[in-house]
Amino acid sequence: MPTFRDFMERSLYDPKLGYYSRRLPRADFYTAPQLHPAFAQVLARRLAALCRELRLDRPRVIEAGAGDGALAEQLLPALPAGARYCVVERSAAALALAAARLKPRFARLDCRAGLAELEPGDGIVFSNELVDSFPAHVLQMEGGKVRELYVDDSGREFLGPLSKPQLRAHACRAAAFLGEGQRHAVNLEIAPWLEEVARVLTRGALLTIDYGAKMGAAPNPPRAFYRHSLPDDLSARPGRQDLTASVDFDELIRAGRALGFKLHYYGSLAGFLIEGGIGDFLPTGQSAADVKSRAQVKTLLHPEAMGEVFKVLIQTKEEPRG
Ligand SMILES: C[S@@+](CC[C@H](N)C(=O)[O-])C[C@H]1O[C@@H](n2cnc3c(N)ncnc32)[C@H](O)[C@@H]1O
Repeated sequence: MPTFRDFMERSLYDPKLGYYSRRLPRADFYTAPQLHPAFAQVLARRLAALCRELRLDRPRVIEAGAGDGALAEQLLPALPAGARYCVVERSAAALALAAARLKPRFARLDCRAGLAELEPGDGIVFSNELVDSFPAHVLQMEGGKVRELYVDDSGREFLGPLSKPQLRAHACRAAAFLGEGQRHAVNLEIAPWLEEVARVLTRGALLTIDYGAKMGAAPNPPRAFYRHSLPDDLSARPGRQDLTASVDFDELIRAGRALGFKLHYYGSLAGFLIEGGIGDFLPTGQSAADVKSRAQVKTLLHPEAMGEVFKVLIQTKEEPRG
């Protein structure tokens, strides 16, 4: 029986029919680099500071889940001289767009389909809105019992038993806070993803920007995005609407700690951008273009837009002593 996780995997990543293979996400949602170049400027400043703090010379900067390369295009000119940049993108269509956009302009660029293709080394791995696009299992309370959501081949949703033993602990915890009919997404991809990052990164930092929070004991319902709205029906339009589950940053911190990553920074996107001096990258004039530019930045900072809804996590990793 196909779980919702299997359905989400196919809907987003089927090489022919998957959302990320055939649709440009900005038709359905905007990500921070599409909103304003100041996001990339602050991020570049922070990446450069991390390279200095961690004494990473000629750093390798790996952008995971780079989409069509829009963020890389803005970041690359602002990174420290000597930095080598690697775009990692699972969707072959998006990777081809990123390569066409970036390769003619940036000589020191590597494009890869997955972290598994990379050799271990020092550096920084970072992502923007990657982890929330990992396929998630969905639990639902029904008749006082926590069950798992399945989607059959005709798109009909139904509930069934837990498909994996690892879900049992999540179901026990969720039983305490899920109300009847409520749903809760469980991202089991975080641990294997971090294991891969830990293999690639012998020493350095992992910086994650994503929708989410330290969830604690609260439901985390999965969501769909279609034409800048949030439709209720998750299994409608397979391959034509985005599916996503907010990130439980506690999970990233906990799983990272088990692999030798230390918590270096955690905060809201607004805090990260303000501390990083976003004001330095905004126009100060009164022309219509300047006023519009400053208004666009408000979406990045406003608590109910992206400012508090997105979080930034930095974890660092030292070389194992040996
Ligand atoms: C929401 S988009 C974000 C794109 C870009 N980072 C941005 O900010 O505009 C998520 C991207 O991550 C990619 N992705 C998902 N899982 C991946 C993985 N395991 N490795 C590399 N890329 C992945 C998807 O194909 C998609 O392009």
